[in-house]
Amino acid sequence: MKARPITTVKTVVTAIEKAGEGIKLFTLADPDNWELPPFKPGAHIDLHLPNGLVRTYSLCNEPADNARYLIAVKREADGRGGSRALHDEVAVGDVIGVSLPRGGLDPGAPIARYVFVAGGIGVTPFLSMARHLERAGEADYALHLIVREEVPLAAHLGALIEAGRVVVHRTSRTGRPDLAALVGEAGSETLVACCGPGGMTDDFERVTAAWPAANVHIERFVAPPPVIDPDAKPFTLSLARSGTEIQVRAGQTMLAALQEGGIDVATSCCGGICGACKVGWIEGRPVHRDRILSPYERERYLMVCVAGSDAERLVLDL
Ligand code: FES
Repeated sequence: MKARPITTVKTVVTAIEKAGEGIKLFTLADPDNWELPPFKPGAHIDLHLPNGLVRTYSLCNEPADNARYLIAVKREADGRGGSRALHDEVAVGDVIGVSLPRGGLDPGAPIARYVFVAGGIGVTPFLSMARHLERAGEADYALHLIVREEVPLAAHLGALIEAGRVVVHRTSRTGRPDLAALVGEAGSETLVACCGPGGMTDDFERVTAAWPAANVHIERFVAPPPVIDPDAKPFTLSLARSGTEIQVRAGQTMLAALQEGGIDVATSCCGGICGACKVGWIEGRPVHRDRILSPYERERYLMVCVAGSDAERLVLDL
């Protein structure tokens, strides 16, 4: 019998530090001080919060520093509750389950130049990437940080700002910078990435629309509204490993149908932007709708929270 793969790791909060207006930096470590599962620069983890919420955050430390996971969280009073729970209810010594890290920069990619564009707290994945690139010293990079006035994680970015690696654009003084000018010309050895509020990521997507998809990476804070397909038809999900068949009603998400069928799938954003619900597909014609998978990944994976099917039967690697 196959062993069930490990999907979550028990961590303990070992430090909480104020890192700017409304921002806290949480350090999570193994309770027995073992190294944590490895991760790529700027990878994400899902936190299983004590109140039952699951929320996704970028790691801001670098892969070489994997005795801990560092996440920076801005308290969003009107958010979905994850940041409020972390700020108001989580203390040093609390135990938090986290997913295995996923995503992040591929250190083996043939990239000679990186341009990162961050809005406010969206700087967190790029802090990890910058730290990694500084250490590796193999590729050139620039990190443009767009803020209204105050720099988040200032104590952690100070040296990089002084070295000219991080350029701070304060919109209260100079207005919004021209994103097209920041990213420059498309090139096969250049990767451009953006993480920030919706308006910024939408502009970035427009500016880089003609770039090769593999050279553009966008991370969103908030999932776009769900796509309602008026022509959606019911279909059958066939689960290859268990041999189970599950019916998906017209307009129902695969995720809801799987959950109704008693199949446990990890979720966080439920809007196709975080990657938590990624499942392999084997046969069929998925309609993807997510905002995270690359064209290459879509040949093998889909996000069950948003994907649909263009055929009557879709076989999943579940
Ligand atoms: S739960 Fe986030 S992509 Fe599906």
